[in-house]
Amino acid sequence: MGARAAVLAGLGSYLPPGRMTNEELSRRLDTSDEWIHKRTGIRERRWVDAGVSTSDLAVEAGQRALKSAANGAPDAVGMVILATTTPDYPCPATAPEVATRLGLGTPAAVDMAAGCAGFVYALATGAASIAAGHTEQVLVIGAETLSTIINPADRTTAVIFADGAGAVVLRSGTADEPGAILTVDLGSDGTGKDLATIPAGGSRQRSSRQVAAPDDRFLHVRGKEIFAQAVRRMGQSATAVLGTAGWSVDQLDHLVGHQANLRILHALAQQLGLDKRRVVSNIEQVGNTSAASIPLALADAAAQNRFLPRDRLLLTAFGAGLCWASAALTWPQITPA
Ligand code: UT7
Repeated sequence: MGARAAVLAGLGSYLPPGRMTNEELSRRLDTSDEWIHKRTGIRERRWVDAGVSTSDLAVEAGQRALKSAANGAPDAVGMVILATTTPDYPCPATAPEVATRLGLGTPAAVDMAAGCAGFVYALATGAASIAAGHTEQVLVIGAETLSTIINPADRTTAVIFADGAGAVVLRSGTADEPGAILTVDLGSDGTGKDLATIPAGGSRQRSSRQVAAPDDRFLHVRGKEIFAQAVRRMGQSATAVLGTAGWSVDQLDHLVGHQANLRILHALAQQLGLDKRRVVSNIEQVGNTSAASIPLALADAAAQNRFLPRDRLLLTAFGAGLCWASAALTWPQITPA
């Protein structure tokens, strides 16, 4: 029998209904479907309606993941980790409300702020808590309403970022079971904090007692620089995880990278020496959903029966912070909801 480990037991996802196509954006901004698709791989994305917040999407995805896990998982979720860059409020965290609305009682519940790497950071944290014996079951959610932090007049961010949520249930099991989280690699580099930032709204701006400029309340991204860092850091992190898992690149069945830009995913595959056909991507339909992107990509690929039980998956993500995170797992026998 293998060592105690966290095992993926359920998967769910949710996209808000509001479609924003490249054509529609081209009517509002100085951009075009051709530019957006060629430079990012995106054709359309979802944006929430007014009044819909991150917790609303998180609850939908969480419900689906719990439903998907219903046959195999123990009864009680001991911990909820919500990875998000767009919490409902600066205070309190959004996870406790999500846990309550899901009817989970009084579990540990906390937000994970690690930008686009948030879901994999949360997965690693939940898996470690299970492996240490602190809890039997963890609900890990990545949920974002990035449409609420982009400047609608800024064509460099408005064409990329989008809304959505995905979630997984982790349960206690053993490392030799299909679905086991085998190893992770987490890292950060604060020298790159200005590459993706919302300058206003935090203590740095508030303690100055100056009223924030309206534009400073939006997300600012230095696209070219973060692109280069993303390829480099995800490449290093993915290589580290492959090494710890003892897998060669040829043994890897699927690379599920953060859906920031299709060109980033292809550059990453090239750097690793991985066939592009093993790269999972749904960015064309969903855009860059930050912390929701990996579980959304997992759910899409699983719904298309792309994964077989015991397939070897590598998750890797990179974003604001700068933060990056990777995980190696085998695919379980589950039906996503
Ligand atoms: O999720 C993690 C954080 N985010 C990322 O990882 C994003 C990573 N970066 C990217 O995906 C890309 O850098 C972008 C998609 C943001 C930009 O693509 P790019 O190929 O790096 O374009 P660029 O910034 O070098 O701009 C090229 C040209 C510029 O015009 P000039 O100076 O050549 O005349 C831009 O002004 O494209 C122009 N441009 C646009 N044109 C049409 C920039 N955005 C647009 C646009 N439509 N939406």
